[in-house]
Amino acid sequence: MDLRNKTLCASGFHAPERGKIDVLDDVLIDIGADGAIRAVHRPSDPNYRTIRDAREDTGELVTLPSGSYLLPGFVDLHVHAPQYPQLGSALDVPLEVWLQKYTFPLEARYEDIAFAKRSYNLLVDDLLANGTTTALYFGTIHQDATRVLVDVCLEKGQRALVGKVAMDNADECPDYYRDASPEAAIEGTRSLIDYIRAHPDNGDGRVLPVITPRFIPSCTDATLEGLGALARECGCHVQTHCSESDWAHGYVKQRHGKTDAEMLDQFGLLGRRSVLAHANFLTSDDMERVRTREAAVAHCPLSNVYFANAVFPLRAALDKGVHVGLGTDISGGPSASMLENCRGAILMSRALESGVDPNLGGEARATFGPAQIDFRDAFYIATTGGGVALDLPVGQFQPGYLFDAIVIDTKAEKGSVRLFDELDAGEQILQKIIYTASKANIASTWIGGQNLRLP
Ligand code: GUN
Ligand code: FE
Repeated sequence: MDLRNKTLCASGFHAPERGKIDVLDDVLIDIGADGAIRAVHRPSDPNYRTIRDAREDTGELVTLPSGSYLLPGFVDLHVHAPQYPQLGSALDVPLEVWLQKYTFPLEARYEDIAFAKRSYNLLVDDLLANGTTTALYFGTIHQDATRVLVDVCLEKGQRALVGKVAMDNADECPDYYRDASPEAAIEGTRSLIDYIRAHPDNGDGRVLPVITPRFIPSCTDATLEGLGALARECGCHVQTHCSESDWAHGYVKQRHGKTDAEMLDQFGLLGRRSVLAHANFLTSDDMERVRTREAAVAHCPLSNVYFANAVFPLRAALDKGVHVGLGTDISGGPSASMLENCRGAILMSRALESGVDPNLGGEARATFGPAQIDFRDAFYIATTGGGVALDLPVGQFQPGYLFDAIVIDTKAEKGSVRLFDELDAGEQILQKIIYTASKANIASTWIGGQNLRLP
């Protein structure tokens, strides 16, 4: 049901602060005509009963059934939209080989608009069905196909940030798939920004443009400088890959004598609305630079295992106050599900802390130091952290935030959550949701208060 101008009575969870779950029991959430939350009333509030009765009388009250829990919709902070057709394949070679052997040939296919339409429709449907209400997308170098992605998001109602990929370095990009020149990369980026901002169906800014240099190795200095200037001029978001693998990190050090983070900063690409994918090899100076610039990291735990030769030290970054959200990195990570990526983040944090080589005994095995996170941190980065990273009012149930939410039906027969009333209560229920829920448990999705009809 459309919840604009309605009040939802629901139980559920959100995590406005890292490390703490706010358990919502039968709260009333007032949603305005603009899809934003106007107020949240808790049963302990003195006027709760009066408000609830009044809303019931006017027919404005909508109540979730028992066993259903409201969660903020997930914010997927790193998706390569064109790579969806190879999700779950091509995981056998290192990053620099994978790009040339599998990924550039696949992305080049988006020259074909019919292919783009088919692939992007499937992707956006599947992400919505997985509870992803906001996605930060890399497109391809193509203007037309990337416009198709924008159109598909608007048509289906997904909140999205979309970038035309810029990549023009002939040394690292094949002839058949690269921008013809820095001008083509920069003006193509500008053209997509204009298309998104002027789109007749985008009056509420549900889709936003993103300046998207693929990563430093793919781009010439002229393009990186031009895109930095464009970011200043347009004030839009920026996304790129940063210090992902030994090879990527080493390439930048060799070409520039500096780290990715230093160079991105120098090019004007490191600001409050910048999202750096991976960032596994940040030095402690880099980490401090990212923090002071208020840029964000998209942590992609599944992808790290296949392509990065390392795992991003999430806990250390959160402890330092760096903005971090969670990304699937489709298709570097083989799952479109943010829940599975939450589990991946927890799992990898534990492996990082304990070490995994059985030949090393005790202390020699565990060399990294404290790295372990739990379901609270995973849930935080998948929701609030993503919203903070993007500087968008999503990911929490607070007045002024957009009502982007999902319902987890823990009683769904074909789902994978099994609760026992005698055992499960409070945030323990969220823990079970994070560890065991699947697509079949996601019963409803709202974006800006609008209920999406899922296929
Ligand atoms: N670095 C440059 N391009 C890519 C990409 O498509 N995926 C990942 N994971 N890393 C990249
Ligand atoms: Fe990526």
